Amino acid sequence: MPAADSSDALLMEPVTRLHTAALQALASDPAVSATSHLPSPYPPGHAEAWIHAATEARAKGEAFHFAVMLPQEGFVGCCSLMAVSPRERSAQVSYWIGRPYWGRGLATRATRWVLGFAFEALKLERVRTCVLDGNIASLRVLEKLGFLPLLRAPNRNPKFPLDASLVFFERLAVPLSSRRPDAQDS
Ligand SMILES: CC(C)(COP(=O)(O)OP(=O)(O)OC[C@H]1O[C@@H](n2cnc3c(N)ncnc32)[C@H](O)[C@@H]1OP(=O)(O)O)[C@@H](O)C(=O)NCCC(=O)NCCS
Repeated sequence: MPAADSSDALLMEPVTRLHTAALQALASDPAVSATSHLPSPYPPGHAEAWIHAATEARAKGEAFHFAVMLPQEGFVGCCSLMAVSPRERSAQVSYWIGRPYWGRGLATRATRWVLGFAFEALKLERVRTCVLDGNIASLRVLEKLGFLPLLRAPNRNPKFPLDASLVFFERLAVPLSSRRPDAQDS
């Protein structure tokens, strides 16, 4: 680390206190925090405490939070592997990109890199996530990366609208059809 994303000049590196100011500024945009796992509104000074916790979680192997970096712009967002379970060989992924950088394929590329880290470096078998129904950009990111929907459930997170739904997704390291030679594509 840092490691280059093979398709372009995207760099992924563990979040450190060097990212504090840019992370605080970009995460404080309600358009970023409202639909993600970030607290909304994003509290002043929260980035410093969060990065400290992220560093401890990485040391324990519980979570791996990566800064999404571009050579010119520097820090542009985060992509995280959380709830890492070596026993179940599973984890959860989440991502956000600062609003000035939306629509450039960055979330897709960053999350693809993190999936590679999960499946190749950590040898996990499945990565899950959940998305607020109606978060079209995020749903599209998951579609591009081969996530499959598992279920839809009513939202219970008070930060989201009470009448909202969440859609849960899963991405397997190896597609089921490749594990079962007798399986037929539908
Ligand atoms: C969701 C988010 C990470 C996407 O980041 P991004 O870097 O812009 O994503 P990408 O460019 O890789 O892909 C976005 C896709 O959604 C599409 N998209 C975005 N808005 C859309 C809209 N209103 N209608 C249709 N498609 C849309 C883009 O065209 C693109 O698809 P394409 O490559 O086929 O053209 C970013 O919007 C974000 O940080 N949102 C706030 C936090 C959040 O919601 N995080 C996800 C929590 S589950």
